[in-house]
Amino acid sequence: MNRAPFPIPSVVAASALLLSTPAASLALDWTNLAPIGPVSSHTRTARTLELRTADNSTVTLSILAPDLVRVRTLFPGQPASPDHSWAIAKTDWPSTTWQLSESPTALSITTAELEIVINRDPLLITFLDAKTKQPLNRDERPMARDPKTARVAAAKKLGFDEHFYGLGEKAARLDKRRGRFTMWNSDTPGYVEGTDPIYQSIPFYIGWENNACYGLFYDNSHRSTFDMGWSGQDYTGFTAEGGELDYYFFGGPSMKKIISRYTELTGRMPMPPLWALGHQQSRYSYYPDTMVERVAAEYRQRDLPLDVLYLDIHYMDAYRVFTWDKTRFPDPAAFTARLDKQGIKVVTIVDPGVKYEPADPAKPNAPRYAVYEEGIAKDYFLRRKDGSLYIGEVWPGKSLFVDYTKADARAWWGDWHRSLTDVGIAGIWTDMNEPSDFIDKSGATQMDVVFDDLGTRTLYGKHRNLFALNMARATYEGLQKLKPDRRPFVITRAGYAGVQRYAVVWTGDNNVTMDSVALNIPMFASLGLSGQAFVGADVPGFIGRGDAEILARSYQLASLVPLCRNHGTIDYYDHEPWRYGSYAEGIVRKFLKLRYRLMPYIYTTLEEAHRTGVPYFRPLLLEFQTDTNALNLDDQFMIGDALLAAPVVRAIERGREVYFPAGLWYDFWTHTPINGAQTLRVDAPLDHMPLYVRGGSILPTTVEMNHTGEKPWSPLRFAIYPDAEGRATGTLYEDDGLTPAHLKGIFRRISLTYDNNVLTISAPVGGALRPDQIYQPTAPRDFEFTVHAHGKTLSHRRRDDGQAHRIEIK
Ligand code: GLC
Repeated sequence: MNRAPFPIPSVVAASALLLSTPAASLALDWTNLAPIGPVSSHTRTARTLELRTADNSTVTLSILAPDLVRVRTLFPGQPASPDHSWAIAKTDWPSTTWQLSESPTALSITTAELEIVINRDPLLITFLDAKTKQPLNRDERPMARDPKTARVAAAKKLGFDEHFYGLGEKAARLDKRRGRFTMWNSDTPGYVEGTDPIYQSIPFYIGWENNACYGLFYDNSHRSTFDMGWSGQDYTGFTAEGGELDYYFFGGPSMKKIISRYTELTGRMPMPPLWALGHQQSRYSYYPDTMVERVAAEYRQRDLPLDVLYLDIHYMDAYRVFTWDKTRFPDPAAFTARLDKQGIKVVTIVDPGVKYEPADPAKPNAPRYAVYEEGIAKDYFLRRKDGSLYIGEVWPGKSLFVDYTKADARAWWGDWHRSLTDVGIAGIWTDMNEPSDFIDKSGATQMDVVFDDLGTRTLYGKHRNLFALNMARATYEGLQKLKPDRRPFVITRAGYAGVQRYAVVWTGDNNVTMDSVALNIPMFASLGLSGQAFVGADVPGFIGRGDAEILARSYQLASLVPLCRNHGTIDYYDHEPWRYGSYAEGIVRKFLKLRYRLMPYIYTTLEEAHRTGVPYFRPLLLEFQTDTNALNLDDQFMIGDALLAAPVVRAIERGREVYFPAGLWYDFWTHTPINGAQTLRVDAPLDHMPLYVRGGSILPTTVEMNHTGEKPWSPLRFAIYPDAEGRATGTLYEDDGLTPAHLKGIFRRISLTYDNNVLTISAPVGGALRPDQIYQPTAPRDFEFTVHAHGKTLSHRRRDDGQAHRIEIK
């Protein structure tokens, strides 16, 4: 069979499917919600202030850090579930000092950064900046719960000039003000701007008002809705169908600081292998092996960079996970070895649906499917409340799903990846993990599915949004165990807060349209602000036929995005770079070569995301937090703090307006200086992407190559772009790009500063205790420095001798 039994619907069918999905949004309707009562008493412990209320609720405020407070409310009759969250990575916060003051009307907590005023009657909480006394966030009404349905809700006053960012993966613009969003992981092929929800749920947002920011993470995995001023001008709020009102409040005022704290709480992305930053090619589906190798050969012959090829569902034997179709791939180990010799890694898809394949009494000698057999024997598959197996329908037909909340089931699932890693598979693509079930994609008929959940046996309503997080965890930990000397590479479609600890994400089944390409920018920026730094979208898009223009424009953008992967669905024209003529192919080549040249900067910037949580792909607002022109900028972005891209994301256009924040900028291509604080019209023919460097930056770059392992970074080229005062700074991070040795401090970081012709290079530093345990470059190499200043270019070249230097460049 050369098609899946349930092919992805076309765009038309997809939108019909979306329309037929039951309305998933809950209105923030207050009619049946019982407000929490006034504060009747309180108790202080070292870390917490516990409030009891007249209606027997408890509200626990935990002071985790001077800028981080958790507010957890239990209403009367609400079962006190164990204090555990699958999203949280850190619970052991060092103690922090805070003061409590009391008045007849209020209680007030003061940390070094936040003041939290709790009005006793009614119970209303206000968060203020302890230094400026500026209110950051205030309850608009008391928190509430519907005792009949268990729905909980909170409302905050909406500031007249308050803006919202984050909320994870939403098919929406950057500023979420006046929008309404639901968290309910959903398989939504062909989604467009406004389709909500889609695959992921990250209930974290950053509020901005008067240049100051705060963050709010509502850690509740039940279906929830965020009303960001959609219902009116008074309030913004969140409500969930079950679970607790349990949120974390982050003080800023800096957005970067908030993201750093948020990712300290929920975890940061691990360093990927360097090859994962190379260009990747996928298709639903390449087979047999000779066809995959033909694609690889085409890439090499055409001098087009490629690091990774993907095998979609047809590599399996009738879509049985952890099997191979031996006709299509008779010798997977030899196949991956041949590709590896050409510098190409292979990533395979692994879906959660395990083929339901009980023994057929009529065929007693038929081979048995071990994944099914073992899963049944060990009772790892999800069951409904009545004890029957939850049987869904995915690619193999009837399918079962593993309960990844069981630690032994996770370990078992992880071990099964041996069937892939043993034959040289380098990474795992976990898909359909909303989880998608063709019988009912909405989840309505699955609400009685029970999850072990650390022995508490909770229901689907809590776990749908967590399913992918726990599956990604099982996969990541499995790869870690199977290949302890390799960094795992896992890519996931669905997720919840914290999924960044285990997997990179791609934005699912987008369309081959310019609107879809344009949507990449706010989507990647919002994911980054929500802790997910390693992101990407199918290039040029999943559903639809491409053309030269969309191929060129989508690659221009993707050349700077962490995950740069070409993919396309089964029933559309091919998407490889050469399919639309040599002109488009040349443009793709130019931008892929650019990506590999920029790799030292890309890797350095990604390491910053790994270390601090500050994303790689940034909205301008993250760098220019007080610039109100950046509040709503959906068609420009920054990579790190030095590169500003303004790709053309509209059809036919061959020029566009570019906004330059205050400061000095340089055209990346011509090095022409540009004064900031203005909007300029620039030309952008099809082969051009407007790209700029921020004055004051030093960009580490290297030579072109066709895969990341082809050549060492030699020479390393540092492009220096002084600011108006003639100064610039930059860093370069390096490690072996493959193993976890960097976690033991085996890396190498150098800092460069330039001040009016004098360049200072620091001695390299690592993180290991012994200074000689620093990462060493694989071969001797040169450093090249080029200063782009005052319309002239100055250069200097020297051997990298691993020493600090002060160089005058004239
Ligand atoms: C889903 C994925 C897509 C994949 C297809 C077949 O639609 O999102 O990327 O190609 O399934 O596995």
